Amino acid sequence: MSTPSAAPVDPLAVLKGLAALRRLTGTYPPGHPMIGQKLKEIGDASAAHLQHSEVLRIDVIRGDVFLDSVPTSTEGQANQQLIAQLAALGVDSIHITRGVELDEFLSVAEFLWQFNGSGDSVAYQLAARNVRHISVGRLVPLDTRWRAQQWPDAPTAPLDADYAESILRAQQTFEDAAAGKPIDVVTVRDLVQLLIHKVARSNAALGQILAVKQYENLTYCHSVNVSVLSLMLGKQVGLDETTQAALVEAALLHDVGKTQIPLEIVKKPGVLDKNERKTIESHTTLGAEILVQTSGLHPLTPTIALEHHRGVKGTGYPDLGNAIPHPMSQIVSVADIYEAITGARTYQDPTPPERACLIMARLAGEKLNTALVKTFVNAITFFPLGSLVRTSRNELGLVIATNQGDPLHPVLRLLDQLTYEPTDRLNTALRDASGTYERHISQSVPVPEGLDVRGMLEAA
Ligand SMILES: [Fe+2]
Repeated sequence: MSTPSAAPVDPLAVLKGLAALRRLTGTYPPGHPMIGQKLKEIGDASAAHLQHSEVLRIDVIRGDVFLDSVPTSTEGQANQQLIAQLAALGVDSIHITRGVELDEFLSVAEFLWQFNGSGDSVAYQLAARNVRHISVGRLVPLDTRWRAQQWPDAPTAPLDADYAESILRAQQTFEDAAAGKPIDVVTVRDLVQLLIHKVARSNAALGQILAVKQYENLTYCHSVNVSVLSLMLGKQVGLDETTQAALVEAALLHDVGKTQIPLEIVKKPGVLDKNERKTIESHTTLGAEILVQTSGLHPLTPTIALEHHRGVKGTGYPDLGNAIPHPMSQIVSVADIYEAITGARTYQDPTPPERACLIMARLAGEKLNTALVKTFVNAITFFPLGSLVRTSRNELGLVIATNQGDPLHPVLRLLDQLTYEPTDRLNTALRDASGTYERHISQSVPVPEGLDVRGMLEAA
């Protein structure tokens, strides 16, 4: 199987090596020759890759192993067992950066042997063991707030007409709320209908919502997106139409409390101090208060605003004891997190959809409902319609269709590398005579301003 790297490396060899090393460190005393031998094997396997690239990224997504986001064959029972073992440990990614030393592999193996899921964060525990070049993925902090890039506040590319209309109406609703005016329930109801009957049924709009968003979508854009994504998930889990409408209303207004919080705190890069964090977190209670006072809304709407940052094990905020969030709140949480990580923030670059799914998989069980995350990830494609991707043969293409049952290999409209002029149609699911894929998608690429994605999707 081909990989985009000049020096193909079998990620399973590194994973297997680490799993074996983990057992050896639990069985033999430090310095045992078997440990030394295994360490050397892992060191050689990763060094081959790190010669050519800065980082070796091994991710396990839905039971498949990805090397730098490209899937690798995991057939064979032994490999499946290895993946199951890692999953049982809660490890779903190992990233190794250039400069890694053998001692660090040893420390990670020891850590994994003793690891029981409790205590400080994995990153902290590894740092305490002096591991600087290997990260073990379990939980990714969503809001690291260390960047200060300026993004536009709203989309700059042309949007699907109904989607653009819904954003405009949501903006009005949120501006009214920010000015202390009561929420106009009729406007909200119309907007809910527009979202259900037009926006959620438009492939172009869905593509724009699912893809990476190169703008800092402030509350109103975010809310429209979360509504459509919640609806998508709600339909998948079989909610009836009345409940779907209630879900869309609640998702649309789940962050309305943010209108009461100074924008400089909402957008602040860098670490938030305790008071600022408390202020941000109060958007849940503030939102619920506003919504309770608005007559004509569905009774669950304030509840969902209150609960959408609470985890399925009763963690998160606000503190409501061990109370488990309402299932509808759990749906909005999944949509909210996907939307937040695929969007830009002053403190965060947007994350491509396929990596967003991986982050969500890491949050499943603790913060998010596992069944809902699975349903969501299965419902969306890794490379949504309208997203721009590069293949392992360095072709640039726009995703114009997906192949049922093979979400990682969509159909592309190839584009000229320089002019972005559309050229041939290409099905990336094609395999050669030996049954191997001819190419994989190696990465998502930002859609440049002015590219007529909608036109190309319609033409397709
Ligand atoms: Fe929120």
